[in-house]
Amino acid sequence: MADTDTALGAPAERREGRDKVTGLARYAAEHTVSGRVHAWPVAAAVARGSVRAIDTSEALRLPEVLTVLTHENAPRLADPDDPTLAVLQNSRVPHRGWPVALVVAETLEAARSGAAAVRVEYTAQDHDVTLTETHPGAYVPEEANGGYPAQREQGDPEGAFTSAAVRVDADYRVPPLHNHPMEPHAATAHWDNGRLVVHDSSQGTTVVRATLAALFRLPEDRVTVMSEHVGGGFGSKGTPRPHVVLAAMAARQTGRPVTVVLPRRLLPALVGHRAPTLHRLRLGATEQGSLTSLRHEVTTHTSRIKEFVEQAAVPARIMYAAPNSRTSHRVVPLDVPSPSWMRAPGEAPGMYALESAMDELAVALKMDPVELRIANEPDTEPDSGKPFSSRHLVECLREGARRFDWSHRDPRPGTRSAGPLLVGSGVAAAMYPVLIQPSTATAHARPDGSFIVRVNATDIGTGARTVLAQVAADALGVPLERVHTEIGNSDLPSASLAGGSSGTASWGWAVHEACTRLRAVLAEHTGSLPETGLTASADTEGSADADSDYSRHAFGAHFAEVTVDTVTGEVRVRSLLGVYAAGRILNARTARSQFIGGMTMGLGMALTEGSTMDAAFGDFTEADLAAYHVPAHADVPAVEAHWIDEDDPHLNPMGSKGIGEIGIVGTAAAIGNAVHHATGVRYRELPLTPDRVL
Ligand code: MOS
Repeated sequence: MADTDTALGAPAERREGRDKVTGLARYAAEHTVSGRVHAWPVAAAVARGSVRAIDTSEALRLPEVLTVLTHENAPRLADPDDPTLAVLQNSRVPHRGWPVALVVAETLEAARSGAAAVRVEYTAQDHDVTLTETHPGAYVPEEANGGYPAQREQGDPEGAFTSAAVRVDADYRVPPLHNHPMEPHAATAHWDNGRLVVHDSSQGTTVVRATLAALFRLPEDRVTVMSEHVGGGFGSKGTPRPHVVLAAMAARQTGRPVTVVLPRRLLPALVGHRAPTLHRLRLGATEQGSLTSLRHEVTTHTSRIKEFVEQAAVPARIMYAAPNSRTSHRVVPLDVPSPSWMRAPGEAPGMYALESAMDELAVALKMDPVELRIANEPDTEPDSGKPFSSRHLVECLREGARRFDWSHRDPRPGTRSAGPLLVGSGVAAAMYPVLIQPSTATAHARPDGSFIVRVNATDIGTGARTVLAQVAADALGVPLERVHTEIGNSDLPSASLAGGSSGTASWGWAVHEACTRLRAVLAEHTGSLPETGLTASADTEGSADADSDYSRHAFGAHFAEVTVDTVTGEVRVRSLLGVYAAGRILNARTARSQFIGGMTMGLGMALTEGSTMDAAFGDFTEADLAAYHVPAHADVPAVEAHWIDEDDPHLNPMGSKGIGEIGIVGTAAAIGNAVHHATGVRYRELPLTPDRVL
């Protein structure tokens, strides 16, 4: 039993890794229930208006086409809480790409041909998809995503700025960004004696089940939703999406199992996106580099049917001590698809702007940017005044600087070159809140000495199965290989979604508690176990409280070295280094992957990713992976992730903070700051593509 001490924190391999690389792992569209057919959506071709007439006769004459669902014949749903799920319920077109029909056919090819043969006439209205700071439709919402107040103000930020010795006043722009998981959104649904059974690609099926039950007016125990394997989500699968509603509708209408895979080109319209954010940063500081005024004001867009406000000014409430501050969000409803969660919503764009502005301030002060950040460390959380449960940002900066050989950097911009390449390095801080949701779990001891842990967690590629087994083995005091986990099925004890970097802490808390109870039961038990084994369960409603007397966040520091080609304008990242303080790291192998994955996504945000709204057409111009460029292997250089051990008793029984999102936070700023160091030019709009840089 020597290895039981190391179950938690050990670099255990992913339990499903072999199944994934050998193709045995099945994803939502690959569950071939007997008689399964396919459906393909027809997307609205106007940005605002309504369907005037829809002619499905030609589509229905095609071989193998079974039916065409439209708003005229589709099953009537109960009103959803989420208006993006009210598909085929009326003739309204709230944005381009909205589903106006669904063609069901024996084969995928026939469904697709059928979709091309549906004739739709629209009544089009003038649309507006262009976000500006001065848009007359802008308003201050009640709250931003995450429940944060839209505005906060302390002291006299304007007066303190005006009288500051050193000032930065800069605008930054982050374009719309798209989640684009490798596995598109897909669901296979069938009805079995009034029961709805669905394989969905989702970050959490407990909510999908509840949503489908409500939409189709069923008791929840007549719905089962499974997400056994998920090929990424990055937030876009954090809520139920139209594909799963469409699949269930089509299955009800045809009586056949139906698979809907959203075509990649429809993902930007139907599964959320990171809304564009326009940032104004105004920093005032003393000659010595103490912030006296900090203002971060954000303008963003949302759709006409749903208010979603990217909380990009929230990090500025946490990061730095400033006696006078103002953070605010304004939002403009436009005829655009509904924005939603994308990895580190709020923090990713917000920290790009804040950490770029801090770099500008360091340059203006002629101060080292690492030292500037350290000089503005707050004693308590600036916004709430609560003590930090743990905050080791300074240690992350120092350790990163040491590993990156920062002390040998010549701070003067534009002084390093290699042939036509300019070389520069940059730094930025990272932060992500600790989020925890109540969950339930059971732990079961079998007579053969093995254990089964059940919790409706979802493994979206993170290694959740594996780390939950580690949590269980640790709590039970048994070797890891004796613990089996069952996750990814809404019939299991209900649990929160894989989102907000909260999964491991939330599910792990329930697993830890169930296993701790089972261990106590076993300690009391004498003789061999009954044939049926012994079970203990836990529900962390009440204990796993999102509220705390402490301000709880993970912190980190990112360092980047870039080259900028003076002939082509191409920026390439030579190296990226992240150092994190995220509580106890529960699996060194999968944690490293999470950090590096986040940093890679931050690299894409900095250099290649972004889409533009075509004002005339009213849609995203870059809708597929040929036009929306995510980093490929050749774009990703040496990426290193390190962490410093944190012993924080105010988190959860494992002592862990979330790690899924912090890697993307601050990476784009570190790269942008390195580009400034290389060139002496400050670019304030992402991505840093050659056309901008040259
Ligand atoms: Mo993540 S954007 O919180 O699923």
